[in-house]
Amino acid sequence: MGIKYVNNELYVEGLAVSKLAKKYGTPIYIYSKNTLESNFHAYKKGFGDIDSIICYAAKANPNQNIMTILAKLGSGADIVSGGELYRSLLAGIKPDKIVYSGVGKTAEEIEYALKSNILMFNVESFEELEQINLIAKRLHKKARISFRVNPDVDPHTHKHITTGKHGSKFGIRYEDALGMYIAASKMKNIKIVGVDSHIGSQILEVSPFKQAALKLSKLIDNLEKAKIFIKYIDIGGGLGIKYQKSEVPPSPEDLKKAVMSVYSKYKDKTIIVEPGRSIVANAGIMVGKILYRKVSGDKKFIIVDIGMNDLIRPTLYDAYHNIIPVRKTSKKPVIVDIVGPICETGDFIAKDRKFPMLFRGELIAVECIGAYGSAMASQYNSRLRAQGIVIDGKKVTGIRKREELKDLIAKEIN
Ligand code: LLP
Repeated sequence: MGIKYVNNELYVEGLAVSKLAKKYGTPIYIYSKNTLESNFHAYKKGFGDIDSIICYAAKANPNQNIMTILAKLGSGADIVSGGELYRSLLAGIKPDKIVYSGVGKTAEEIEYALKSNILMFNVESFEELEQINLIAKRLHKKARISFRVNPDVDPHTHKHITTGKHGSKFGIRYEDALGMYIAASKMKNIKIVGVDSHIGSQILEVSPFKQAALKLSKLIDNLEKAKIFIKYIDIGGGLGIKYQKSEVPPSPEDLKKAVMSVYSKYKDKTIIVEPGRSIVANAGIMVGKILYRKVSGDKKFIIVDIGMNDLIRPTLYDAYHNIIPVRKTSKKPVIVDIVGPICETGDFIAKDRKFPMLFRGELIAVECIGAYGSAMASQYNSRLRAQGIVIDGKKVTGIRKREELKDLIAKEIN
């Protein structure tokens, strides 16, 4: 089960993609429930022998159906907005498994999270801490917090998804952490419960996680000397996936082993992990149709109905997504750019890619779009956002409708 060819036809679980595309139209996000669930189970198994909470990073794919599947498996959530809190609670995620990260939590969002009794705020500045203390006081509550500490570790990934290095907007400086914890310990409406770091995304080695753990562990020891005792160690998310053949991502268990080589000395603590991409990315493909083919200068182009509004990762991060024909072909690959219909040179899915020059009307599948695919979609060029379906064996569940023209102006005033 999963996403694979059967007799030269691409299948998602028990259903042929070509038939799904014909019935539901393109472009379309198609997810395998089985793959999603086994990715979550890999975390459950990998972290199962230690006291831990898996908090799915909702931003990777916040669709209600996806979140509900994960909630049923016992997932918590890592959220970064009131919107993600709303979605998580609605999906049935327990508030005591919700951690709230993000550098710009508003007063309204903080109040919503306090009233919802979430597990903890991962605080990212001293001013945010003061704000949380003030709001908690007004609500006669004690806010559970950890600081997101920037350990100044290089995760060797794209600069736009590197977060734990010196000079990043995320977290508090490592050197300031002890002082801030001591200040926080004196605030009446603050209860210190954890430490946190998130160093980046699409990380393909465990050593940066271990380096971060070594730094945080020193901090935890210093906190204990100052009589500040924490319960939760949040190691963030960021485990990479195999977008291309050369990439060999570590498993959740490898990650657990790396951090526990540092943290196993703490017997009374709970590890929190915030995976997004590694739970949902390879559970989804985006299927599109070839609209036209053309030659310009010495370049060949395949123009498809998937635009950067549907999948912005290649444009934004030079990200590589494997593209495969929905029906295998004996045609020889040539070097082509596979581009979308949007009026921007930056609107491409693949550049100088070896791909067979298929015919107009034939279908392609872009792999590993389950994370940060539909989540980052927009209506740019007044395009209708695509629909999504989840396949469970031979069962199809619509999880998002294709937008209609009237949706484009639904919130506009004239
Ligand atoms: N925790 C925090 C605090 C985060 O900021 C993130 C991702 C995660 C967890 C989950 O990271 P993951 O396991 O998914 O790597 N749009 C970009 C990725 C941005 C990641 C932002 N933060 C992309 O398409 O590559």
